[in-house]
Amino acid sequence: MSQLYIIPHDHEIKLDHRIERSGHKPLLIWLTGLSGSGKSTIANALEKKLFAESYQTYILDGDNIRSGLNRDLGFDGDSRVENIRRIGEVARLFVDAGLVVITAFISPFERERELVREIIGSENYFQVFVDCPLDECEKRDVKGLYKKARSGEIKNFTGIDSPFEKPNNPDLIVDTITSSLEESVDQILNQVIKRIS
Ligand code: ADX
Repeated sequence: MSQLYIIPHDHEIKLDHRIERSGHKPLLIWLTGLSGSGKSTIANALEKKLFAESYQTYILDGDNIRSGLNRDLGFDGDSRVENIRRIGEVARLFVDAGLVVITAFISPFERERELVREIIGSENYFQVFVDCPLDECEKRDVKGLYKKARSGEIKNFTGIDSPFEKPNNPDLIVDTITSSLEESVDQILNQVIKRIS
């Protein structure tokens, strides 16, 4: 195995130096939920608030990952597993760079969400279940994809013919039916600010 010959270099600039410079700790805020539940909208509003407070932030979501790094992956079970594994590894690098990373992926399987927690370390991982019932996501159908999934034009669509496992132990649940966008973001901020300060 070529991996036997991979010997990491011990770089002298460590996370502690980066924290000292930026004035805050890193964190991965992992949003999980159905397509159309509000993950990307929340990620965007959350990042704006953190950025305005001078936190160094970055969003990873379907648009920037599935159109580049993961353009070779589809939506069958194995591809979704690999999608999340790679995103976990990228997030690990960004967290090591000292950033507050917000991710917005359906991430339908408990196993991979917990794998990411292991990759990142629990102290740097904050999982938010963006909870919105399927019928509401389908009613919103912002991208028109549920309609296509129902008609069979799209296969393996989460919630229709591919499963979504509800998180067993999320750090926070935001309910996007009963909470406004502003309220959802504030609920997350209330929890994460103390973790990164
Ligand atoms: S994940 O399941 O692998 O985590 P990811 O969050 O990257 O999914 O991508 C989901 C987005 O891809 C959806 O919001 C939707 O816009 C689009 N999409 C296209 N095909 C599918 C599908 N079969 N199932 C779910 N989402 C799909």
